[in-house]
Amino acid sequence: MGSEGTGRRVLSGMRPTGRLHLGHYHGVVKNWVALQQEHQCCFFVADWHALTTGYDDTGELERHSFDMVVDWLAAGVNPSAAVIFIQSKVPEHAELHLLLSMITPVSWLERAPSYKDMQARLNDRDLATYGFLGYPVLQAADILIYRAGGVPVGADQVAHVELCREIARRFNHLFGRESDFEARCEAALRKIGRKASRLYGGLRKAFLEQGDGEALARGRALLAEQRNLSAGDRERLLGYLEGSGRTILPEPEALLTEQPKVPGLDGEKMSKSYGNTISLREAPDAVARKVRGMKTDPARVRRSDPGEPGNCPVYSLHRIYSDPATLDWAAAGCRSAGIGCVDCKAPLIDAINAEQAVMIERARPFEEQPDLVRGVLQEGSEKARSLARETLDDVRANMRIAHQ
Ligand code: TRP
Ligand code: SF4
Repeated sequence: MGSEGTGRRVLSGMRPTGRLHLGHYHGVVKNWVALQQEHQCCFFVADWHALTTGYDDTGELERHSFDMVVDWLAAGVNPSAAVIFIQSKVPEHAELHLLLSMITPVSWLERAPSYKDMQARLNDRDLATYGFLGYPVLQAADILIYRAGGVPVGADQVAHVELCREIARRFNHLFGRESDFEARCEAALRKIGRKASRLYGGLRKAFLEQGDGEALARGRALLAEQRNLSAGDRERLLGYLEGSGRTILPEPEALLTEQPKVPGLDGEKMSKSYGNTISLREAPDAVARKVRGMKTDPARVRRSDPGEPGNCPVYSLHRIYSDPATLDWAAAGCRSAGIGCVDCKAPLIDAINAEQAVMIERARPFEEQPDLVRGVLQEGSEKARSLARETLDDVRANMRIAHQ
């Protein structure tokens, strides 16, 4: 397991979209493969997230989840380096989601940029549901249950990681404390004045050293009377008084990686809904046919018309796939009309197929024996559950609902 580097755990999830395409690979999965060398990684199929928008159409969920995992494995996500699982097989996510939902103000969720956007964009469905509103809380639970330090996501998901941090912070304020807690408590004490602060110190000592419950109650009453305290500081001083806490749920960071824009066959962003994709593990002749049919710079009507690579989606793919010499050859040949588009596409087709060949090979055993995939997911879910259990035990204890 990759556990070197900063030692922090990395986690990411993907909705079960079914077979992946080159956009997913270069935008997301390739990065996962790199991260698993350096960090302990958890990658999961976010099937509950799919329900938040697609609750009325679940017929393909299992097949899509399975196919997507095969593509992860084909792309090089390695079950002996990363924990690979399906969200719904780890019910601990749901329990933490429930607990976090208790402390998350509805206004935070209504403010989330994806909320109004998605409702408008997916206006053919009724998204005025409880689950859809709460979906960032579910995402926060996904992340916090593993105490993940880094969350590789696209730009559209950064706001959700930010919300996750706010939820964690609130949780820690209520049930634990942050790393500079002591200093912040000292600062808060200065706000209530010398006399109250000395009294507070004495009561705290009496409670922490002698377990004096009376002192605890008086300390709480003292804090309740203070007018100069913000809600955050009040929470802090309450925690400090009881000697509770540390950071129970660490705040994660979004790992925003440079995601190359992978153009589709028509020059628009590659996306299943545009029908302009090259799939992962697409057969070589299909790749050749698709690339040969790709749009190029419209200025090149005839072979003798020069073109501009900057206006050509084929060249954008070259940037991802080709070495500098090939890039120079394509750009110069395009601008001088020294080469035709058919010539230009040939090395690109070869490069894509060379990359695909490795993936086709890796996927072969999983295609032939689907039980191997089930085994990977089973083992991943068990590992994930045991990691999740640790956090959840701690959360329950800190919330005083362990009932032991
Ligand atoms: N919401 C993400 C998406 O739609 C998927 C996701 C769910 C996720 N839980 C996550 C991503 C946790 C990162 C971490 O793409
Ligand atoms: Fe595009 Fe290459 Fe044709 Fe130029 S020569 S328009 S870069 S395909």
